[in-house]
Amino acid sequence: MTGPLLVLVGPMGVGKSTVGHLLAEHLGTGYRDTDDDIVTAEGRTIAEIFVDEGEEAFRALEKRAVRTALTEHDGVLALGGGAVLDADTRALLAGQRVVYLSMDVEEAVRRTGLGVARPLLAVNPRKQWRELMEARRHLYEEVAAAVVPTDGRTPEEVTQEVLNAL
Ligand code: S3P
Repeated sequence: MTGPLLVLVGPMGVGKSTVGHLLAEHLGTGYRDTDDDIVTAEGRTIAEIFVDEGEEAFRALEKRAVRTALTEHDGVLALGGGAVLDADTRALLAGQRVVYLSMDVEEAVRRTGLGVARPLLAVNPRKQWRELMEARRHLYEEVAAAVVPTDGRTPEEVTQEVLNAL
C-alpha cells in the first residue's frame, strides 16, 4: 500500500467533495472523505460533535481519521478544511501528492451561505472567512504540490485543472 493517489486540501465549501468524486471517476478509483469517516464512526454529524465536545475533541478525532485514511486508502482522499492545522498531519502529508483547491473570500461566502451546517462560520461568515484564511492559507500552501484556483470555474473545469497538474 502506497497511500492515496491524490489528497485534496482547502477550505470548506471549495468543492473538495464534488471535485473529488469527479476525479475518482476520471482516474477509475475510489473516493474517501475524512469528514464522512468521522461521522460514520461517531454516529453524529460534525456540527453535533462540535456542540457536544468542542473543536479540540473534533480535531483529535480528525487527526486519527486522517492518519487511518492515509494508510488505508489508495484513491482520491479529501481532508476536512481544518485538518492541516495539525503539525503531525502536515508532516504525514509531506510524502503525499497533495492538491490545494483555493478560492477567494467572496466566492467562499457565496458558496457557504450562512454556514448553518458549518459551526466555524455560524456568526459572521465574511469576517470569519477572512480570519480562517489568514490562519490557514500558508498551511495549505505548505503541504500542497499544486494550487488550483476554483473561482468562477465549474467542478468539471477544476477537475480538468487538477488532472493537468498531476
Ligand atoms: C472544518 C471543515 C469541515 C469540517 C468541520 C471543520 C474546518 O470540513 O471538518 O466543519 O475547520 O475548516 P469541509 O472542509 O469538508 O467542509
